[in-house]
This record gives sequence, structure tokens and C-alpha cells, in this order.
Amino acid sequence: MAERIIIEGGVPLRGEVPVSGAKNAALPLMAASLLVPGKLVLENVPDLRDVQTMGRLLQYLGATCEGKGTLVVNSSDVTGWEAPYDLVKTMRASILVLGPLLARFGRAKVSQPGGCAIGARPINRHLSGLEALGANVRLEHGYVIAEADRLVGAEVVFEAPTVTGTENLIMAAVLAEGETTLVNTAREPEIVDLANALNAMGAKISGAGTGVITVQGVTSLTPVTYSVLPDRIEAGTYLIAAGVTGGTIKVVGCVPSHLRAVIDRLEKAGLHIQEGNDWVQASGSDGIRAVDVRTDPYPGFPTDMQAQFMVLMALSTGLSTITETIFEQRFMHVPELCRMGADITLSERKAVVRGVQRLSGAPVMATDLRASASLVLAGLGVENGITEISRVYHLDRGYDDLDEKLSSIGAKIWRAGG
Ligand code: EPZ
Repeated sequence: MAERIIIEGGVPLRGEVPVSGAKNAALPLMAASLLVPGKLVLENVPDLRDVQTMGRLLQYLGATCEGKGTLVVNSSDVTGWEAPYDLVKTMRASILVLGPLLARFGRAKVSQPGGCAIGARPINRHLSGLEALGANVRLEHGYVIAEADRLVGAEVVFEAPTVTGTENLIMAAVLAEGETTLVNTAREPEIVDLANALNAMGAKISGAGTGVITVQGVTSLTPVTYSVLPDRIEAGTYLIAAGVTGGTIKVVGCVPSHLRAVIDRLEKAGLHIQEGNDWVQASGSDGIRAVDVRTDPYPGFPTDMQAQFMVLMALSTGLSTITETIFEQRFMHVPELCRMGADITLSERKAVVRGVQRLSGAPVMATDLRASASLVLAGLGVENGITEISRVYHLDRGYDDLDEKLSSIGAKIWRAGG
């Protein structure tokens, strides 16, 4: 039987949890290695399946990628320019090699990522942006094929923010001729991290984190050592665990300002929050109030925290509405939570959650990364009962040592099978 996670709930979790590097910063930073020959050293890289997948993709293209925690990526000998279907289908973020391959080698062939559990996730904004820089882009047999003798700087206006689309365009623009202006970009901290790393390598990027990013093309970059920023979604997940279990958890090594929208909702839900310059502590001992939440592009409430927050609302003392504005079907966790006794009704992009006294343990199935995190939180919140989560590979894509970190603050959680 495949590996499962088993949780005996009902323990108020107490203690400190260290945050790992951010998956959604590490992946573009690894892809950026394709822009620069030589040894790019990335520190504080989380040990995740997606990071391993990106490493395999870089190696497939001819780069070397060594180490764990600290990665040394060297793309000097890269001759490949094709990201094959069987690698891309396991991780949509593989699309992040499109911009760098095009910028460095003038061509790229990347399998179209296709949809996933949370939505169709098209890449049209990536492709129209690259065409604006002069690339010839066509779709053939499920692949994106992009070619350009030399990319030329231009103005690119995104119809709506896209995180990896913004990252792909930044990486394509850093070696283009002249100036590129990206308008209506995503503003996530992971984009700022990528821009900071590229500027350290000699790129000329300004405005990352705002809605307008300007890039002056340069002819080459030099590799550096760069430390990946802490994972704000991992941090937020642990803060919610404090609320769900009625415990007190101090998340250390994070950036509180990256969690502003999450902290605001947690405080309104009745959690006691304290924060320092690199830590946030949440205490959930006084019960949970129902609050409405709506996901939005950063700095709004992150869609990657929606499933986790829903568990908190499932145990609140009232009625709350959770509106998912980013993805069209990011409610795959709802049926599973309902099997644990949650009272949630869906209509279109809204989930109406009526708080219940308690959840009950049950066998449940993970469907995507953040849904699996919500099932773990629900299992921790079950007062007395066992929850068994299957398809835990979803969890291992994006959480570094989750069970060990939870065990260290008192959770009764273990793995079986596998
Ligand atoms: C990034 O995905 C993150 N992944 C996601 O995290 C996160 O949920 C998402 O941004 C939030 O916006 C990485 O950074 C690796 P988008 P991305 O392009 O870039 C639509 C996780 O759990 N869209 O910002 O793929 C799209 O369908 C993952 O760690 C287009 O229509 O997301 C979606 O509805 C899940 N056309 C919305 O925009 C495009 O060309 C936002 O997508 C691009 C996007």
C-alpha cells in the first residue's frame, strides 16, 4: 500500500518551528541558473520533491546540480533546450525554464504544463509576453516551441497578474537588447527574491514587488551565492496549526511582513499573535471566531493559504464565507473535510463554512499540495480520533519535514506503508 500519514489528533501543539526556504522562490532561482554559466550557489534550499524534480530537469538539459540544502548549479555545459513531457507533467513549474532557455540559447521547447487539480492553468500570458520581446512562439504536439535570434526589450502589459509569468518575463528580459517594462506584474515576495538574486549577478531590474518592473538588458551575468527567502506559506500553515489545536506555536526564521494579510485574518479569527523581526507566534487557546476571507494576488490573502484557513473556519463558532478568486477549482479539499464532519457548502468560487464543535478522524485522500496540508491540520484538530491521509506525495512536494516539525511540538503523527 502506498505511503500514508497517520495522525492522532487532540494535542494542543506547543513550541518553536523553524521555517525552511520557500519552494516558490527556490524553483525560479534554480531555473535562473540557465541564464548564467558557472557555479550558482543557492543556500537555504528546502528539501522537497519539486526541488528534486527541477534539479533533474536542469541535469537533463546538461547542467550539474549538486547538494542538498545548499545547491551548486552549473549550467556552463548546457546544450539541451527541450524540457520533456514526462518531467514537466510532474511539475508545472518546469515552465520556468522557458524564459531563461530562450534568453541564453535563442530557443526553447517546453512541454505545455497542462492543467492540474486546482485548475486549467493556461500559460497564454507567458507566451504573449515572450512574443512581445520578439520571440516566435508556436504550439506543436503539446509542446511550446519558442525561438528568437535576440530578444529585444519592449513593453509587456499582463492582462492580469501571473507569478511564474512575471518570473519568466523577467528572466527573458535580463539578457534582451534594451529596456523592457513589465506592467500589471505579480508582486509576490518570491519575485522580489528572484530579482534580487539576478541583480546580484549583474542584471539591472527595478520595481520588483510593485506592479511595474523595468529591466535593462545586459550582455551576460556572473554567478553568485544567494540564500533563498523563507517560505511564508509554510510559516502560515504552522500558525494555523496553533489555532486548530488550541496551542501556541512560534514560527522562527520567517519574514512577518510577508504574512500581513494572513496575520490580519488570524487575529480577527481570535488568535493571539505576537511578532519579532524574524518570528511570529500564534496562540489559539481562546476559541475561533468566524471571519470571511477572499483570496487575492499578493499582498492580498494568498490562495496557497485558502485550504488551511478553511480548516480553522470549520472549527469556528459561526458562519464564514471563503472566496477563491485565483483558481477556478481550488476546493478539492472540501469533500474530504466534509467526510471529517466539516459543514461546508460550495457554490462557484465561494465556500460557506458553518463551524462545528469537533471534527472526526477518517481515512482521507490528498489531491494537491495545499489540500494535503489542510487535511493534516484537520487531523491535528480532531479531538480524539485517528486520521489517515493517502497520496502523501502531494505533501512532500511542498513541505520540508512536516511530520518531524509537527512531532517536535507534540503532534502524534507518523508515516506508514510506502
Ligand atoms: C504560482 O503559480 C505558484 N507556483 C502557485 O503555488 C500559486 O498558487 C500561484 O502562483 C498564485 O498565483 C509557483 O510559484 C511555482 P499564476 P502560477 O500564473 O504562476 C491564470 C503552490 O501551492 N493564468 O499566478 O502557475 C491561472 O490560471 C502553488 O505552491 C492565466 O490565465 O500561478 C490562475 O487562475 C500552487 N494565464 C491565475 O492566472 C497565464 O498565462 C494565477 O496564476 C498565467 C496564469
